[in-house]
Amino acid sequence: MAQLVSPSLPPCGTFGALLRACRHRAFLSQAQLAARAELSERTVRDLEAGRVRLPRTDTARLLAEALKLSGPEREGWFASARGSLSRERAEPAVASPSGPAQPPRDVPAQLPLNACGFVGRRYELGRLDAILAEVADQPTAGAVIAMSGTAGVGKTTLAVHWAHHVRDRFPDGQLYVNLRGFDPCGSVVASTKAVRGFLNAFGVPRARIPASLDAQAALYRSLLAGRRVLVLLDNAQDADQVRPLLPGSPGCLVVLTSRNKLTSLVAAEGAHPLAVDLLTTAEARELLTRRLGRERVLAEPRAVEEIIARCARLPLALAVVAARAATHRGFTLAVLAAELRDASGRLDALGSDDPGTDVRTAFAGSYPREEPMMGEVSFVVSDVDNGLRERLNDEINAFNVAATGHADGGLLCIAVRENGGDLRAGLYGWTWGGCGYIDLLWVRNDHRGSGLGTRLLAAAEQEIRRRGCDQVVLSTHSFQAPGFYARFGYQECGRTPAYPRGHDQIHLVKRFS
Ligand SMILES: Nc1ncnc2c1ncn2[C@@H]1O[C@H](COP(=O)(O)OP(=O)(O)OP(=O)(O)O)[C@@H](O)[C@H]1O
Ligand SMILES: [Mg+2]
Repeated sequence: MAQLVSPSLPPCGTFGALLRACRHRAFLSQAQLAARAELSERTVRDLEAGRVRLPRTDTARLLAEALKLSGPEREGWFASARGSLSRERAEPAVASPSGPAQPPRDVPAQLPLNACGFVGRRYELGRLDAILAEVADQPTAGAVIAMSGTAGVGKTTLAVHWAHHVRDRFPDGQLYVNLRGFDPCGSVVASTKAVRGFLNAFGVPRARIPASLDAQAALYRSLLAGRRVLVLLDNAQDADQVRPLLPGSPGCLVVLTSRNKLTSLVAAEGAHPLAVDLLTTAEARELLTRRLGRERVLAEPRAVEEIIARCARLPLALAVVAARAATHRGFTLAVLAAELRDASGRLDALGSDDPGTDVRTAFAGSYPREEPMMGEVSFVVSDVDNGLRERLNDEINAFNVAATGHADGGLLCIAVRENGGDLRAGLYGWTWGGCGYIDLLWVRNDHRGSGLGTRLLAAAEQEIRRRGCDQVVLSTHSFQAPGFYARFGYQECGRTPAYPRGHDQIHLVKRFS
């Protein structure tokens, strides 16, 4: 009886499971398959969910055609549709006397957060959908999509947004790695580290991971063979960095982003190139509207047009300006436009096609600039300038928020006071991007050892968790109390030797499980 199902059909127990597996293999959503087969979406849904156990003959035929099944696959399909499957085949994953139960598989779901407020890109999204459909029609070929474009143009944002949109077509997992190909600090991720990360994501124990890159890549390809996995390789430097991360078999789709065109991947691996360009003026206006609110944008149409033009329709630049406008609600958009006008010499560079331009650094460093670039400037060195600190804080904060898409952070201050109001202990820090950061924790001398520090740290951790964070980081010194944090599960993740002279600064992290 098992012969009735072709070995090339996914080995599934029920007709519903077979339908789902074939649909996934064809990269179709339920709605798309229903439309192709000219059936209702509900019919597909009910069959997959087992609410309708077997299809009518007509339905089975329409679905087989929509899924382009032929030869022995088609025969197997109809056998399954008639319910003529052997019992062993029907329940393969359940423990049976003939063999142990299959261990549960790790299904990685590594896509980063899909930032809200995504705008535009209709053409690019349509092109990505079309490539996916094309790949589904040639089930023997794997596919690579290579997105390229200048710094800050929105490659990562687009790739992550689309990946979320199609992730249910990749039931065996979604892998993501930021390869940091253009990191200003030069910390490019080596291919071997990225492959190891992927192997870990599939639950391969460290001890089983081979030492050489070739062997790791081979293991990775074997693991992905026969699976439907979406692999997002973000911010790739060059083709050599990504080659070991390309699965060798059909069924997987790779989307990679890079400031470089990676033409050798297009030539040698048949990657589909997708150039990501600046936003249109309408899309740029929509981006500002989403972030600043319709009212504010409609109130100052001329300033909005100037901001768009001066940002050269570059999403990162627009996002930085929008973040500045959002954090300084007292500023009119005309004031922001004027700031940009002053800084235009630098900003013109942002619209260039030079992939080497690090727009994040250029923009962070140049904007807003209140003195003329080449004119008189004064460097005032002083001991105390709280206004300056606040201002720098605001600027960097606005930039960080725009660059990462994480919402503004929040301060975390806990004061422990005596009834009379005297301070006994205190803690200062902040939370941002899912992390807590403890900057200062202090307990008055006469209360050290009283358990106050413990309670203070516990209160801080509780609040950090409440804000949705999953880790806390802090730095302490070797002459302070590193042992105190160790007792709470903080682990050393690095140190700055001889800071201050004769001591070390110790960096600690604690991850909440
Ligand atoms: N389609 C979009 N809708 C809304 N905001 C966007 C869009 N594209 C980009 N942005 C904003 O621009 C910022 C920069 O985009 P992104 O990081 O995707 O650029 P990139 O091309 O990947 O840059 P890099 O080359 O530096 O990696 C994002 O943090 C986001 O705030
Ligand atoms: Mg990017």
